[in-house]
Amino acid sequence: MKTMNSDEQVLAVRELTVEYPQGRGRDPLRAVDKVTFDIAQGETLGLVGESGSGKSTIGRAILGLVSPTAGSIEFGGQDITRAGNRERRALSQDLQVIFQDPYSSLNPSRTIGTTLAESLRLHPELSKGQVRDRAAEVLGRVGLPRTAIDRFPSNFSGGQRQRIAIARALMVEPRLVICDEPVSALDLSVQAQVLNLLSELQREFNLGYLFVAHDLDVVRHLSHRIIVLFGGQVMEEGPAEAVYSKPLHPYTKALLDAAPVPDPVLQAARRTRREQLPIVSGAGQPAGCPFATRCPHALPVCHSERPTMEVTPAGTSVACHRWRDLNSVPTLELPDRKISHAR
Ligand SMILES: Nc1ncnc2c1ncn2[C@@H]1O[C@H](COP(=O)(O)OP(=O)(O)OP(=O)(O)O)[C@@H](O)[C@H]1O
Ligand SMILES: [Mg+2]
Repeated sequence: MKTMNSDEQVLAVRELTVEYPQGRGRDPLRAVDKVTFDIAQGETLGLVGESGSGKSTIGRAILGLVSPTAGSIEFGGQDITRAGNRERRALSQDLQVIFQDPYSSLNPSRTIGTTLAESLRLHPELSKGQVRDRAAEVLGRVGLPRTAIDRFPSNFSGGQRQRIAIARALMVEPRLVICDEPVSALDLSVQAQVLNLLSELQREFNLGYLFVAHDLDVVRHLSHRIIVLFGGQVMEEGPAEAVYSKPLHPYTKALLDAAPVPDPVLQAARRTRREQLPIVSGAGQPAGCPFATRCPHALPVCHSERPTMEVTPAGTSVACHRWRDLNSVPTLELPDRKISHAR
């Protein structure tokens, strides 16, 4: 068993920038722009933002599936920003992933046992029997019968397949699991079961999660901290409860307004506010706040200058030129607490 303290930092991402080439004559697309965060052992960081905001790209950079343009990624104190194949293989003992689509993430021609055994390929010292026992143990832990070992993915439902993907991630006793929208493709009732399972497993094995979702509701109960991403940049971040109860960035408010609420009056008010948000696409690389083109409160400065992250009285950080006046927070309250993206 690996030993670990619950407050031990596992992942440190600093000013991560990832650009994708866009073909000849075109500027590269900056999918992630100077994103900084940490994840501690046993902690869930929820990464939320609409489609195209760069969530998966951050996960892919941590997993080494895309190469960062700038910035750094440390795992367990080791710089893995440009880790080579051998280093990546060793890292796979501690860093695992669960993808969104349980249909394409499992090889259809392999039995579940073969898929799970593959996770232990760096342990040639284990006998076939030991590997099989471990697979059965882990399958039991995610709520599947031992007999699943000899069956194929096509024998299972979407929710069961996602349990198998979780079992595969757990085979090696990882410290951090990148969960890229792991429940978005599942029915609502199954979503809740899988989220509960992830939450139980976190407590039992002290797992860290980077939990990617479109929707603030999905990450609400699982996340200790939340990052709200837009256009590859962090708009707001902080303890989950503070971000939910006192959202200060217009984009976070809009995201919360997008979640269904049981009260029809409240829902109608939210819908009106949402409809006031103009939709502008193909914005390119903005000099200012990436949300400015869609923000109903944008001033000229919002289009020309990127706002810095500022610490708020709610204990969150927000990147918005207007967060104080929009939320009636006097400027004098926190005179010296301006922080930069570099932190
Ligand atoms: N391989 C790629 N080549 C070029 N551009 C890419 C590539 N992958 C992603 N992009 C672009 O980078 C941006 C961020 O994409 P990313 O997949 O990280 O967003 P996301 O937040 O995960 O979105 P979704 O919620 O739809 O999964 C998007 O504009 C996307 O079109
Ligand atoms: Mg994605």
